[in-house]
Amino acid sequence: MFVKKPPMGWNSWNTFTHAINEELIMQTADIMANEGYLEAGYEYLVIDDCWSERERDKNGNLVADHEKFPHGMKYVADYVHSKGLKFGMYSCDGILTCAGYPGSFGHEFEDAKYFAEVGVDYLKYDNCYKVASVPNTTTYQKMALALKASGRDIVFSACNWGTEDVHTWARSRGTDLFRSTGDIFNHFESMQNIADSQKDKLAFAGPGCYNDVDMLVVGMKPKTDESGAGVQGDGMTEGEQRYHFAWWCMVGSPLMMGCDLRDVSDEAKKLMLNKNLIRINQDIECRPPYMAGHKNAWFRNLSNNEYALGFFNDAEDGGWPPVSYLSFNEIGLTPNCGYGLELTDAFTGEKVGVFEHDFKVKVPGHDCAMYLAKVVKLS
Ligand code: GLA
Repeated sequence: MFVKKPPMGWNSWNTFTHAINEELIMQTADIMANEGYLEAGYEYLVIDDCWSERERDKNGNLVADHEKFPHGMKYVADYVHSKGLKFGMYSCDGILTCAGYPGSFGHEFEDAKYFAEVGVDYLKYDNCYKVASVPNTTTYQKMALALKASGRDIVFSACNWGTEDVHTWARSRGTDLFRSTGDIFNHFESMQNIADSQKDKLAFAGPGCYNDVDMLVVGMKPKTDESGAGVQGDGMTEGEQRYHFAWWCMVGSPLMMGCDLRDVSDEAKKLMLNKNLIRINQDIECRPPYMAGHKNAWFRNLSNNEYALGFFNDAEDGGWPPVSYLSFNEIGLTPNCGYGLELTDAFTGEKVGVFEHDFKVKVPGHDCAMYLAKVVKLS
């Protein structure tokens, strides 16, 4: 189907991994609908791996885990839909899913039919236990066909972690978004590695097929023991979370929240609901940003004579660069052209002013500054 903007929603994996159930999903649906998330654009509620029984039924069909989802998946889908949300599920192009549940290899058409009957609007399709002789170009094309043949509009979210040069064929094989990286963990280094890894591939995304740099860890609690549910990591500071969310918005990645929405700090919630950052992420033209002169200055053309300008500081506090800087020459606003940039702080919504030749700002380490900009005539 044609997906006009990067999908936004929530996914169960980052915080809950295998520890999912009907009650959690219904509570999350309530919160998404009642606490401003849906209104802000987060419309897909996606159940990741570990939702099914370990075996298919005697007819070869997938079956929901009887203990986690005692009323079956259609019941959950109906509830999610009743809240005005869209419903997402998960499968895999291999023999098994990454967590060892039945995968869709050899069952693509019947599984797509099952997902359509349940009322699924979004399918995340993983890549574990893949049959080595069949390339991803085939496995993903096959599921794209099966979803289309199912008779229901289903967003197709490919997840092969950036392997087999996915950015070069994801669009041609009918996927709507493609995971371009390995899994994110809940710490700055993981997030930064992911951000860095895609800097030369941002232009492969555009309307209808998006570069998915993985789900958000904003608002997640630290977790450093191996036991229990959720992905590992000692967490991120508020500045690091700002960097993380702002970068995902700047590059137009899908925004899939990964925290426990029942227990999220006011700061993290405010960040994920920031209208200016979401406006940048969801811009209808879906243009990628580019590095403007300095390594940490990024500029993006938006619709409606607006632009996004971001400075991302990878250094620890006090490290390089002490001051972030953009010479407007780098974006075509040459000296004496008669135009300047009017900047609004994307985090606070405050007008910063009109600037003629350049702009400088001190960004703390592991943090960022983000602006919405307009080109204005200088008086
Ligand atoms: C892979 C994916 C993750 C998640 C897990 C589920 O690691 O990349 O996003 O879906 O599988 O097992």
